[in-house]
Amino acid sequence: MASSSSPGIPSSVLIIGSGAFGLSTAWALCKNPRYKRTAITVVDRQPFPTPDGSSIDTSRIIRPDYAAAPYTRLATIAQKRWRTDFAPEHYHEVGLAVTAWGPEQKYVSASLANVNAIGTDKTEVLHSPADIRRACGLEGKDEWGSGSTGYINWSSGWANAEGAMMWLREKVEKLNRVKFVEASVEKILIDHKTNTVSGVRLTNSSELKADLTILAAGAWSASLIDLRGICKATGQVLCYMPISKEEEAVLSKQPTILNLSHGLFMIPPSAGLLKVARHGHGYINPLTVPHPESEDPNETITISLPYTHVDDPSQRVPNEGQKECRDFLTAIYPSLATPSRPFTKSKICWYTDTRDGDFLISYHPKYKGLFVATGGSGHGFKFLPVIGDSIIECIEGQTPEDFQGRWEWPKERIPEEQWSGDGSRGGPVDMVLAEEMAKSRGRL
Ligand SMILES: Cc1cc2nc3c(=O)[nH]c(=O)nc-3n(C[C@H](O)[C@H](O)[C@H](O)COP(=O)(O)OP(=O)(O)OC[C@H]3O[C@@H](n4cnc5c(N)ncnc54)[C@H](O)[C@@H]3O)c2cc1C
Ligand SMILES: *[C@@H]1O[C@H](CO)[C@@H](O)[C@H](O)[C@H]1NC(C)=O
Ligand SMILES: *[C@@H]1O[C@H](CO)[C@@H](O)[C@H](O)[C@H]1NC(C)=O
Ligand SMILES: *[C@@H]1O[C@H](CO)[C@@H](O)[C@H](O)[C@H]1NC(C)=O
Ligand SMILES: *[C@@H]1O[C@H](CO)[C@@H](O)[C@H](O)[C@H]1NC(C)=O
Repeated sequence: MASSSSPGIPSSVLIIGSGAFGLSTAWALCKNPRYKRTAITVVDRQPFPTPDGSSIDTSRIIRPDYAAAPYTRLATIAQKRWRTDFAPEHYHEVGLAVTAWGPEQKYVSASLANVNAIGTDKTEVLHSPADIRRACGLEGKDEWGSGSTGYINWSSGWANAEGAMMWLREKVEKLNRVKFVEASVEKILIDHKTNTVSGVRLTNSSELKADLTILAAGAWSASLIDLRGICKATGQVLCYMPISKEEEAVLSKQPTILNLSHGLFMIPPSAGLLKVARHGHGYINPLTVPHPESEDPNETITISLPYTHVDDPSQRVPNEGQKECRDFLTAIYPSLATPSRPFTKSKICWYTDTRDGDFLISYHPKYKGLFVATGGSGHGFKFLPVIGDSIIECIEGQTPEDFQGRWEWPKERIPEEQWSGDGSRGGPVDMVLAEEMAKSRGRL
């Protein structure tokens, strides 16, 4: 399996998925001298930038505020890179206000304790809706309730996700080490006698072989191996509204505002587009599909998988989601939420959720030659500058100490209804995409 020159180092690596996890891994492999003889291939079902990939969007929040200290540590390292040498032109440090009301306040105070343990610069505790309004420059009276608490960290920011991904892709392409293949993986090649993976079969029946296959297909990963009770795809809503240059000039200086109680957030606008979205429990899209690890097409499993505007170009966010985004905008910027200014675009973006929000970065417990790097759980993007290096550490059996017991393949599968979640999600639960779509259209 290993190349003769460097023991333990695979002579070929195949990465499935050119999203944040896959591309960052390819980059880290290119830069790491131990892999200088390793052939690296990245295969993705879509041309780059993947139109419906979770890593491609106008913006992603970059923050070190986590209720779990290891993520605060790693995000702090990543953020230093965003500020300095990792696509800094795509990073905007305008602050992030995290607010909550009710049970989510626990997550807010735990995050605050973590960031406070690291440093006490530029954070402002917000004790009331009036405080929040002033600090965030909101115009609304926030009629949704009083007694909201939160804090704002002026050293958090957001990144143009698509811009940063393009930046990284170009960097990787320039190194001339990675073969990029545009094709859809149909199946991972498993030898069931030896429980060994030797690569993948594409939908056109061609095979790509490798010593080590890294599955980084984001929310689609569950279509290629059985991740029941470990990862599930949840659809999150995003709505966009065009705004004028003058409005953008004002709003782009305001912090991002994330209300953890209902999960709604607004990232400052850029390129004439304002985005309102929901970090929530999301929609599930249960489908019965052939068991990915079985050669018997009659053996099926039921799992939640993404359904996007690539599958259905007319796809819009269900009314329920559009309405929540709208209500949030009305609460915070009523002057923008007038009837004459509808959202002109909406999309559903898929999280790869795990039971507790921890990533899944691990060898497959059963199949040799298969490594899994996914489970972004709605917070993976900020780690783009560093996650590939961490993934290589895990591949080499050097999982960072504070992530041991978090990133490994879980010991048991837990039914999804028993998942505890990461504590940061608000808003409606148990929504099924097809049902919400049916309500929106009056038909299925
Ligand atoms: C709406 C939304 C908001 C978010 N906000 C934030 C935020 O503010 N801050 C933050 O840090 N994180 C955020 N995240 C999370 C972050 O974006 C993700 O954790 C991260 O982008 C996941 O990257 P990935 O590589 O796992 O998945 P993806 O980027 O989806 O990449 C997977 C790739 O695999 C490819 N693929 C799938 N199936 C196949 C196949 N069969 N064959 C070949 N290729 C295949 C896909 O085409 C895709 O390009 C957000 C996510 C969403 C959806
Ligand atoms: C705010 O975020 C920065 C990272 O950008 C972090 O270093 C700092 O500790 C945070 N501030 C506080 C008061 O927690
Ligand atoms: C956040 O959401 C809660 C619950 O819906 C609400 O009471 C509160 O007013 C909201 N705060 C802001 C700033 O939107
Ligand atoms: C299948 O697709 C791959 C990637 O585009 C290509 O290299 C290969 O030649 C194709 N095989 C067939 C049989 O068409
Ligand atoms: C799958 O089911 C069909 C219909 O029941 C049957 O004809 C076929 O032989 C089965 N295939 C396998 C591989 O078992």
